[in-house]
Amino acid sequence: MIAIDGPAASGKGTLARRLAAHYGFHHLDTGLTYRGVAHALRLAGQPLDREDVAAATALVLDLAALDRAILADHSIGEAASRVAVMPAVRRALVEAQRRFSARSPGAVLDGRDIGTVVCPDAPVKLFVTASPETRALRRTAEIRDAGTPALYDEILADIRARDARDMGRSDSPLRPAADAHLIDTTEMSIEAAFKAARAIADAALGSA
Ligand code: DC
Repeated sequence: MIAIDGPAASGKGTLARRLAAHYGFHHLDTGLTYRGVAHALRLAGQPLDREDVAAATALVLDLAALDRAILADHSIGEAASRVAVMPAVRRALVEAQRRFSARSPGAVLDGRDIGTVVCPDAPVKLFVTASPETRALRRTAEIRDAGTPALYDEILADIRARDARDMGRSDSPLRPAADAHLIDTTEMSIEAAFKAARAIADAALGSA
């Protein structure tokens, strides 16, 4: 399997989808699982910080029903980042993610703790980064392309706050695994990043 980690808007999701298509593997965006829990709590009118309630929601989450379009909203990402600090929520979701990672013929998982916690034995680990400014520019363009107004300064501030929360939490903070390959996409096209990732994966999977 292929484990991909990195901060918000680093390009890891696009890379994960392309690698999964290339190798014919299943793909799970694990951020959607945290978003799914946050969304379900909201719909049920529950607070985001009740660990027992959030963990019970995580235990019954149906991975097959996660809808990227519904969960894409920026405020759901914020809520997900809060839900993701609670260890009981992480335990429940990590179990589901591990089951997914064992699917045949292979799986690509992307998130924050795939190479460090979810699949520490993954044969291929990538850590995808880009400067906060580059990530904020990309996110601003994405939101504007979808027809919604977006302020670069606000998005940059959100990205910095999210990075601080994801890297600063005590349970499974965002950090590269010791054996992860770093791909910095600040000055790279998606195509170039895909090529670099494929070269690393081909070498590790023995299909060069
Ligand atoms: O990648 P994303 O924006 O969809 O993730 C939303 C939040 O979920 C992110 O701020 C932190 C959390 N998350 C996590 O803690 N661990 C993961 N493996 C994936 C996401």
